[in-house]
Amino acid sequence: MNNILLVANWKMNTSFKEGRELAREIDEEVPEKAEVVICPPFTHLPAIRAQISRLHLGAQDVFWEAEGPYTGEISPLMLKEAGCTYVIIGHSERRIHLGETDEMVNKKVKASLAYGLKPILCLGERLEERERDKTLEIIERQLDLDLEGISDIDGLVIAYEPVWAIGTGRNAEPLEVNHSARYIRQIIEKKYNKKAAKNLVILYGGSVKAENVRSFMEQKEIQGFLVGEASIKGDEFIKIIKISSENI
Ligand code: PGA
Repeated sequence: MNNILLVANWKMNTSFKEGRELAREIDEEVPEKAEVVICPPFTHLPAIRAQISRLHLGAQDVFWEAEGPYTGEISPLMLKEAGCTYVIIGHSERRIHLGETDEMVNKKVKASLAYGLKPILCLGERLEERERDKTLEIIERQLDLDLEGISDIDGLVIAYEPVWAIGTGRNAEPLEVNHSARYIRQIIEKKYNKKAAKNLVILYGGSVKAENVRSFMEQKEIQGFLVGEASIKGDEFIKIIKISSENI
């Protein structure tokens, strides 16, 4: 891919007013070579949609049915109606705090693809798994379970996010990230084909900042970033956008 993909995961942050201001500030700074996706809280989506012209919109989660008696859930159709083109699925915070399983993640990925939303599937190992040298095994198991029964992955984005690097200020080593991303691509080639592997966009996520983004850009298996904390600081995120797009 020629463009870089930058995804801002605002998590449960920003008031309605702050969110609109932040989106407006970032929208003005999006260069041609970057595809920048803002994933604000659900409640902000329509208002932000109305004021952006260069940014894309994404959601932080989705349910797997189109409609029905599922209190508190949001369907892929509703997200499309709200202007989303992307949706984050299987973030480790949901897996940890809400008990989201690979089976649920799999249903969400399937439903998103079926309704034309691009899923950003998050996966990665926990600290104890890494310490036991299980990183690649975990990645493979998550890919197997999360993509089970999905024959066409056109539109899928994978975010490799080592759990111990999220929100901790402790980022993974760029070479290790590249190694894991290469492994993801190899598995996709095995499960699908060469073309699917080549076209797959892989993001890195975990304490990405303006200060370290360059070192990840140098890794050829990485086509972009999923940014949490640094994406709710306008100046910092704009710096990340600039640094990563000038290096393509
Ligand atoms: P962080 O979050 O950048 O704050 O580590 C990344 C993520 O949760 O996707």
